[in-house]
Amino acid sequence: SSNPKDREKEIAALESLKYIKDGMKVGLGTGSTAAHMVKGLGRLVANGLQVVGVPSSDATETLAIEVGIPLTTLDKAKRLDVTIDGADEFDGNFQLIKGGGGALLREKILAYNTDINIIIADAAKQVERLGKFKLPVETIQFATTSISKILEEMSLSPILRMKADQPYTTDEGNFILDIDIFDVDDLTTLNTKLISIPGVVETGLFLDTTSIVIVGQGETTKTLKK
Ligand code: A5P
Repeated sequence: SSNPKDREKEIAALESLKYIKDGMKVGLGTGSTAAHMVKGLGRLVANGLQVVGVPSSDATETLAIEVGIPLTTLDKAKRLDVTIDGADEFDGNFQLIKGGGGALLREKILAYNTDINIIIADAAKQVERLGKFKLPVETIQFATTSISKILEEMSLSPILRMKADQPYTTDEGNFILDIDIFDVDDLTTLNTKLISIPGVVETGLFLDTTSIVIVGQGETTKTLKK
């Protein structure tokens, strides 16, 4: 890639493929960084690597089929060996904000059911403190207005994500409220509060699933291990 940031995404993605071995069940992330990984994995499969993938979104499923990765479902796979996914932000404690691309719910389900979760990212995603990126909260359509009011009262400044002039809908048919958590110190407590509101399906806070982060930096990668 000629775009420097996209090149960092690409080299992080290529580095992550070294963790995929014959016979593995692999969770396939969503977004522009994960797309590089899916394409690279497709090339490995074309050269004889034997894996099955479980996609985290309809978009990734389409791409994986295009590049020839055999797919299965989480139900059939039961447990995944490795999931490789992008992130919108990550901090020094391997905590993430995800869901900029709207796939946070299936992404979190895959992460929860995976032995080793690898995050791939360009260097700009590394932050001292999470929250410059707005945190996506996935909500049942029916409850979204009432949840938005509650989040407003919690001073989290919810904004309903739009696509053109309609609310954006996720692969699961839900809405997304993007909230401002930059001033929140205790993210575990915040996350518990958020998911206990009826109608909140999931949040994009991934606090304890990641064990490896691969960062593209210029023309090299650095690998951080928990
Ligand atoms: C998709 O819902 C997200 O969680 C992505 O993993 C995240 O938005 C990163 O996307 P990019 O790789 O396109 O930056």
